[in-house]
Amino acid sequence: MSVIVSPSLLAADFMNLGKDVEMVNRSKADWIHLDIMDGVFVPNISYGLPVVSQIKKIARKPLDVHLMIVQPERYVGFGMTVQDKNAPDLLTIHLEASTHLHRTLQQIKALGMKAGVALNPHTPVSLLEDIIQDIDVVLIMSVNPGFGGQSFIEHSLEKVKKLKALIQATHSHTLIEIDGGVNFETGRELVAAGANALVAGSFVFKSEDPEATIAGLKNLKTE
Ligand code: DX5
Ligand code: ZN
Repeated sequence: MSVIVSPSLLAADFMNLGKDVEMVNRSKADWIHLDIMDGVFVPNISYGLPVVSQIKKIARKPLDVHLMIVQPERYVGFGMTVQDKNAPDLLTIHLEASTHLHRTLQQIKALGMKAGVALNPHTPVSLLEDIIQDIDVVLIMSVNPGFGGQSFIEHSLEKVKKLKALIQATHSHTLIEIDGGVNFETGRELVAAGANALVAGSFVFKSEDPEATIAGLKNLKTE
């Protein structure tokens, strides 16, 4: 099975966002990763729901929305369901930002979306022991969230292995997605460790040929 590739538009050209979405549409990418930051949970502000709605109109790949915001339960509905054309396909919230994680995951799924849980670099995988079976995708942050272009934190590989063991031990169907500092080198190691999906921002959009870079990531085979 090939790895799922989810280019992060955080590194795209915001003056020509439509052009970059079209590039991802043409490419071998599987998902489109959208980073929403509130300036509170992370020390940066990116873009918000109106931008997601506009992207959804032209995207021909599922939207993989990563909420880096406090109290994500206030926004999971977006006031709409997946039947509405503006909703994401996968909605990921941070464990550190969610007091009632179980309830919020059920709310996301009730709206017809896949539910993801992101872990900051310091957050142990073991905190998912009693919730793993309710999670469609775990997003392991391999940088501190808030900015693109940071260096990969090597310890993330250990977390991928631990998470894979937990998923297998509990017979869960959860996918493992990694976000931050992904390139061909770290991507290869991540796939070998058990990652199912790779987010890549600057490595894709700052490369000379983003479509070819996406194809290269797609070729990093899983076993
Ligand atoms: C960071 C975001 C990432 C970011 C990754 O907080 O969650 O999705 O775009 O950027 P790169 O791939 O440049 O590390
Ligand atoms: Zn992200």
